[in-house]
Amino acid sequence: MLKTLTAMPADPILGLLTQYRQDSHPQKIDLGVGVYKDPAGHTPILDCVKIAEQQRTDTETTKVYIGPTGSENFNQLMSELAFGQTHPALLANRVKTVSTPGGTGALRVAAEFIKSCKPNVVIWVSDPTWANHTGLFEAAGLTVNTYPYYDYDTKTLKFDEMKAALSQIGPDDFVLLHACCHNPSGMDLSTEQWDQVIAITAKQGFTPLIDMAYQGFGDGVDEDAYGVRQMAAAVEEMILCSSCSKNFGLYRERIGACTLVADNSQTANIAFSVLLYVVRCIYSMPPAHGAALVETILGTAELKKQWLSELTVMRDRINGNRQMLVDKLIENGVTQDFSFIAKQKGMFSFLGINPAQVEQLKQEHSIYMVDSSRMSIAGISESNVDYLAKSIAKIL
Ligand code: LMR
Repeated sequence: MLKTLTAMPADPILGLLTQYRQDSHPQKIDLGVGVYKDPAGHTPILDCVKIAEQQRTDTETTKVYIGPTGSENFNQLMSELAFGQTHPALLANRVKTVSTPGGTGALRVAAEFIKSCKPNVVIWVSDPTWANHTGLFEAAGLTVNTYPYYDYDTKTLKFDEMKAALSQIGPDDFVLLHACCHNPSGMDLSTEQWDQVIAITAKQGFTPLIDMAYQGFGDGVDEDAYGVRQMAAAVEEMILCSSCSKNFGLYRERIGACTLVADNSQTANIAFSVLLYVVRCIYSMPPAHGAALVETILGTAELKKQWLSELTVMRDRINGNRQMLVDKLIENGVTQDFSFIAKQKGMFSFLGINPAQVEQLKQEHSIYMVDSSRMSIAGISESNVDYLAKSIAKIL
């Protein structure tokens, strides 16, 4: 069997990491995978995580199985973080959450769950979307279609086209929406635009699947959950996939959550039993370490406060990087307008160059970004921005 296989190309995002690590250029810059970096280019462990980890080491007494749901306490705290403690859907017990191995695990569980409930489902994703969305949905057997989202020419949302497309989608389909910090474009819906999308969702009756991988990296923890909260209040059913990779800096611990919102608590309980069956058949139960850290942080007032302040530092730094790059490009004589980079949100923006220029940046300047010209803005720093801007100026 193995002799018949042809090699898969490297993952468009993770493959860059390997290339970057092998590059010996002293000024190499990694704008590939979406991870936060401090001014020294290091991805630190948050102080609140260090404290929670110490507490866990001191108090953990067993490594016995927990079960497919993962920690109930983590699940509860994650729903409260996403929806707000007093959200009507939470108070009505129509929200059920399972811990998952990262945000990708949450998405795959959601996809397998959808497939087991409804064969032949179509899921609509934004054009463009995170490179792995299509692969993981198709691997679970869903058909993936796209709706218009980002206009590469004007660097704005194709909002009218998006609304027109959503207005054609019927109640049997699913629509994937990014809660905040749209990956890869950095273009988010405004609150008014969310309201319109939610009205269309309620009218058309399709099921929203919201991916919230960057809560707190846009405008703030509550602000970034606007669409999630309003949507859950307006529709009978939805699925939310969240990640703790970026906002808690727990990337390699693989911890996230998949949440079902049903129209009442009885339906929620039945649906949850199906979800748990799906989990059991894939990986049996989620890893516990990251969940234990998150629940310690969210469940301890002082640590939660510290986390929110560390998250603010990360958010402000990325926003600062955005403006810094725009300013440096101007300083280096670039006349093309890149001001859109400073207006976008979260970890990513498209630089807007073609794949040949992306390759040129890599080969001639050791600057790594995804072929689509998606840059991870967190990889920019005071010490590399000048070299970055000069290199971009050269290839333009
Ligand atoms: C990214 O888009 O760079 C991150 O979500 C990391 C990943 O797994 O692709």
